[in-house]
Amino acid sequence: MHVLLINYLISQKFHLDKATMVQPLNHIFIFILVLISYLTILSEGKIIFFPIRHVHIKNNLGVGINLQVHCKSKDDDLGVHNVTYGGDYQFQFRPNVFGTTQFFCGLAWNGILHYLDAYIHQRDMQRCGPDCFWTIYTNQACLYNFDHPSQDCTPI
Ligand SMILES: *[C@@H]1O[C@H](CO)[C@@H](O)[C@H](O)[C@H]1NC(C)=O
Repeated sequence: MHVLLINYLISQKFHLDKATMVQPLNHIFIFILVLISYLTILSEGKIIFFPIRHVHIKNNLGVGINLQVHCKSKDDDLGVHNVTYGGDYQFQFRPNVFGTTQFFCGLAWNGILHYLDAYIHQRDMQRCGPDCFWTIYTNQACLYNFDHPSQDCTPI
């Protein structure tokens, strides 16, 4: 029904013969159907689209201060990891095809919980390629920005 209506409007607008427009519109319709099913298969199977990302979280809190890291996404809970001073915890994942992947982490030391948005695809895909390197200080978390080589720091 929609195809016919669009077809009619286009043929009116360009004064074209309706019959000549049917074939191209059918092809576009089939192409869109194939594209939608292809994207669905890709996202469910997590087949290649975005490259695998590694996120590093380094404890730079000071001698003798242990950092407990607990990262999660909508689908994954990566568990609690104890990182000693100078140590580096890392995890990896493949961003979904829709580019909506997010990981957030609870960071605890000296009995106080802090919060870090460790990876937000739209925010970080450019600046933290190929890997995301976070350094945790007592008052801030800094992400190495590969785009404009520098540290992007945020209070935590
Ligand atoms: C973390 O590891 C250090 C060194 O092995 C240990 O002394 C500390 O008790 C651990 N902390 C937690 C919460 O497991």
